[in-house]
Amino acid sequence: MGNIKKIINGKEYSEKFLKQVYTLSTNFYKRFNRKPCLAVILVGDNTASGIYVKNKVHTAEKNGIKSVKVILSNKVSEASLLNEILKLNEDQNVDGILVQLPLPVHISEKNIIHSINPMKDVDGFHPINFGKLFMGNPNFIPCTPLGCYYMLKNELKELSGKNAVIIGRSNIVGKPMASLLLASNCSVTITHSKTKNLREHCKKADILISAVGIPEMVDETYVKNNAIILDVGINRLQFVNSETKANETKLVGDVNFGKVVNIAKKITPVPGGVGPMTIACLMHNTVKAAYKNKKQSFNDILGEIF
Ligand code: GUN
Repeated sequence: MGNIKKIINGKEYSEKFLKQVYTLSTNFYKRFNRKPCLAVILVGDNTASGIYVKNKVHTAEKNGIKSVKVILSNKVSEASLLNEILKLNEDQNVDGILVQLPLPVHISEKNIIHSINPMKDVDGFHPINFGKLFMGNPNFIPCTPLGCYYMLKNELKELSGKNAVIIGRSNIVGKPMASLLLASNCSVTITHSKTKNLREHCKKADILISAVGIPEMVDETYVKNNAIILDVGINRLQFVNSETKANETKLVGDVNFGKVVNIAKKITPVPGGVGPMTIACLMHNTVKAAYKNKKQSFNDILGEIF
């Protein structure tokens, strides 16, 4: 088999998925005479966060979703940020609220996440949404694991009984990913920086999901023959261009694509793998929040998750 079918094309997935989101958002507009609305709060001048927010806002606009951008200085107090969130919580015309992470160190991410109205929590980070997911009754599911899950379901059809290994135990990716896979009857291992014999764990994976943030760490010594690999890492790597000798940067994942592509059955590239589906899922969650805000039933593109 050539590499064409082997590569899980997240961009293609997201384009098809967003067409369905667009249909839902235009139907919403016809019924309620306004677009679904996503508020995005960016604190400080973290370059990567700035790019992510720009991408989210741009994708919203392209898909029939209004976006409100709130940009606050690095020095904003926690109380002022909480006040901004309170205003958005109370605004009936705002359906979804997202606070881009990470936040400056003087602000408690926990306090901020807890302050978002769970019915507008399109990131799915609020403890109520997090708990609902873990109890098998999800409301908003975090976007990165949701995008991974959607592609896995489409690529594999049957997840039941598979060994899934996740590298990384964050609340944004590792833990909710484990919950989704567990609900699909996978046997799930969450590994992390203190895991002993990481390679041995990973070598047993039918499904290997890396969200560790170490450039190209996962090489052929971590991968079982015919494994499905999802690479959540987005790492900027500096290198010297061998022709021009200039310093350049490129985006790489946690997985050394070149070294594992011939072992894996399927693999997501970076860029163009998990990233585009993450944003598409944010749009999905926003439209879902809008329908819920209007107390309307929502014919979910994802069907019944569990
Ligand atoms: N920072 C990195 N990933 C995310 C995400 O999914 N949501 C938010 N709000 N911040 C992030």
